[in-house]
Amino acid sequence: MPKLVWFNGTISPLETATVPAADHAHLYGDGLFEGIRFYNRKIYQFDQHLDRLYHGMAFMQFEKCMPKAELRETVLEVCRQADLDDGYIRLNVTRGTGLGLDPKNIKRIPNVMIMVNTLALYTPEQYEVGLNVITCSMRVMPPDSLDARLKCIGRYAANIMAKMQANRAGAGEGLLLNQQGYVAECTGDNLFLIQKGVIRTPHPSSGILQGITRDTVIELARKEGYAVTEEQLTAFDLYSADEAFLTGTAAEVIPMVSLDGHPIGCGTPGEHTRKIMALFREHTKHGVPF
Ligand SMILES: Cc1ncc(COP(=O)(O)O)c(C=O)c1O
Repeated sequence: MPKLVWFNGTISPLETATVPAADHAHLYGDGLFEGIRFYNRKIYQFDQHLDRLYHGMAFMQFEKCMPKAELRETVLEVCRQADLDDGYIRLNVTRGTGLGLDPKNIKRIPNVMIMVNTLALYTPEQYEVGLNVITCSMRVMPPDSLDARLKCIGRYAANIMAKMQANRAGAGEGLLLNQQGYVAECTGDNLFLIQKGVIRTPHPSSGILQGITRDTVIELARKEGYAVTEEQLTAFDLYSADEAFLTGTAAEVIPMVSLDGHPIGCGTPGEHTRKIMALFREHTKHGVPF
């Protein structure tokens, strides 16, 4: 059963899997998720993803979810059953089941879904030539509304609208600014730029998801001897950058070659970006085997 869904203990083929109509994320977006890749039967950055999920659950005050070690073992077992070498795990935990916003009126036993699938966000050609990006009209949600570090299902409607805006403009990705006009992130990716050999990326307080790929790339680049700074960036910084690239579990590392029609550097993927892509590719060989 290569593509499958485990839902609260029951496994089904992807095509026939269903979730309860009154699931609180289905009704209100009241759930958290992780997208996790596995390469050559090893789950990449698995514990980092589980940690982010459980921190999110603590913040959202989800109750009675299975212990992290049990979920970890369940994901490994589901991957064994899927029997794919490379793929993408979509792990969802929602608050529970019931109609009405008020959690006190619903059955607060989290619904857990583990989907094992494959996912290609961009074409092989886009990894070669890089992405053209446009600035979208919608801004990321302010942190006093819903902190962007929370990987909450409900917030993604805005990202989908931004992606549609980018599609309409014929762009590969859409950039979202924060309420102050600083660069935040793309619809499912964090952003980096390179200027005079220094790698710069928005600070976590800029309204970004603190991406696991982002943190990995920062670590790998520093080990390689690059200076990496986390700061507030504006479109000006991107227009005057030598290179830029995006990161994400689904996206991996992909060059960004223009913003709003302005070429970044010479408008082609640069040597530092290619170096980071190679470092990342090598690092994906490490993971938790199943
Ligand atoms: C909005 C957003 N930003 C950034 C990322 C990258 O995060 P990660 O590297 O943890 O996948 C994602 C991934 O889904 C995302 O949805």
